[in-house]
Amino acid sequence: MREIGVAPGRGGYRQSLEAARIVFATRSALAGFFGVSDSSRLIFTHSATESLNLAVSGLLKAGDHVVSSSVEHNALLRPLHLMLGRGVEVTFVPADREGVVSEREIAGALRPNTRLVALAHCSNVTGAVQPIGEIARVAARGGALFLVDAAQSAGYFSLPTEEMGIDLLAAPGHKGLFGPPGTGLLTIARGVTLEPLLVGGTGGSASSPLQPEQLPERFESGTINTAALAGLKAGLDFVLETGLEAIRAKGKLLVEQLLQGLRACPGVTVYGPSQGERAGAVSFTAEGEDPAVLGYRLDSEYDISVRAGLHCAPDVHRTIGSYPGGTVRVSPGFFNSEADIEFFLKALRELLRR
Ligand SMILES: Cc1ncc(COP(=O)(O)O)c(C=O)c1O
Repeated sequence: MREIGVAPGRGGYRQSLEAARIVFATRSALAGFFGVSDSSRLIFTHSATESLNLAVSGLLKAGDHVVSSSVEHNALLRPLHLMLGRGVEVTFVPADREGVVSEREIAGALRPNTRLVALAHCSNVTGAVQPIGEIARVAARGGALFLVDAAQSAGYFSLPTEEMGIDLLAAPGHKGLFGPPGTGLLTIARGVTLEPLLVGGTGGSASSPLQPEQLPERFESGTINTAALAGLKAGLDFVLETGLEAIRAKGKLLVEQLLQGLRACPGVTVYGPSQGERAGAVSFTAEGEDPAVLGYRLDSEYDISVRAGLHCAPDVHRTIGSYPGGTVRVSPGFFNSEADIEFFLKALRELLRR
């Protein structure tokens, strides 16, 4: 902002070109990270929510059918419900009590008019990891496109989209990619065409009253936030320097410590997969305790930031049995330590004893 505080792709002066170079460098680096061979097919948005809206409403038409699941975040659920009012049919296949969706359920829900299979890779409530490799194959066999909400997995799992058969991948910049809030992206596989959410100034093709066809301009009307994208590139550089394996190893260590400690607390119920792969979110309830009060006390008395309630994903709680009160969710990050987890567990034990 201090050195190149101008709009990219607008003027031909050196500062604007430098801003465009920053945007291009971020786009190319992210395209490499997500295995997108043509970087113009990686679109910048403001959030995973915007990316999911673009994918869902840009693709679907009346008469189309979508298969999703009973454990989706509102960021996908609400765009799908909006489509229900526009003549699109949606089947929400049930997940099991641990929040895991099976590819067999997805396969069983496919119809000749299924245009899209859409679901989150990892749950922000239970930490459940869905078998997206298998689901991609099921979707492709059924002639449907595959949209992945990677809000909880981008920067944690390797997601080479073209190799994995992911046609559309939505991710925020501000979680596992360590970028600033207000950044997001959507990858769009070759051959997939979408209607834009917004039309307007794109910097080029100015004489036409119609939105340009070429990517990424088609989906990036209005001035792009260069400073935030420079931050996103710095975040991605950190992920690449650290390595996904090291990031995941740290995550696993802390989550395992957390799970063991929580399971040893009398009256505490831990949700999500009891074994196998898990992402960073761990949810629990404590008998007789309101999650909102527990969350408030952890913050005000111990300075521990957790989230309490439904976490924008009410259907997950209906599935795992914690509706309507929700859960307390602890989500350790790469910069937490084993001492932080021990401090949290000690605080929780104290609060539950009082
Ligand atoms: C699974 C899931 N999907 C989508 C989102 C929305 O992300 P954003 O805030 O970038 O729109 C979140 C945010 O927490 C999430 O956890």
